[in-house]
Amino acid sequence: MEAVKQTTEFTPEMLAEVDRIIKLFPEGKQKSALLRVLHIAQAHYGWLDVPVMDYIARLLHIQPIEVYEVATFYSMYDTVPVGKVKLEVCRTGPCAIEGAEKIISYIENKLGIKDGETTADGIFTLKSVECLGACGYAPMLQCGEKYHEHLTEEKVDALIEAYRKNPKANYMGM
Ligand code: FES
Repeated sequence: MEAVKQTTEFTPEMLAEVDRIIKLFPEGKQKSALLRVLHIAQAHYGWLDVPVMDYIARLLHIQPIEVYEVATFYSMYDTVPVGKVKLEVCRTGPCAIEGAEKIISYIENKLGIKDGETTADGIFTLKSVECLGACGYAPMLQCGEKYHEHLTEEKVDALIEAYRKNPKANYMGM
């Protein structure tokens, strides 16, 4: 998949939002804004390239490694290009007991990609992740702002078809 061209500059609107968030924290604690700033960057660029993470480090007056370690720890951040639709399948205990592995294999076979990969058309990325807090509805996956629960192969077929037609359907209100 072709990487989206990245620049290291935030727009004035993004910088104003970063400034607003930094001011929510005591002076000298601007690192506390990091999670929010990473979300702003990822929403704008689609993923977090090293130059963007270095830029964020400069903005927050912290070391680049402090940004890398957060961006690579949380599965909600992407440090490689991803598709328009990210299928994040929970693989933790309760979901594993209820068949998460079978769901992951089913999606891999259906889309012709492995965990962590993106389809050639740039639409779908499959990512197995840790608990998403919906253990009572296992097995489940998150796609954008939506949760899909008690997954079956039929449900996976339907949601992939829906997202293929409308990749933005993974956002509330769509
Ligand atoms: S174990 Fe899957 S949501 Fe918690």
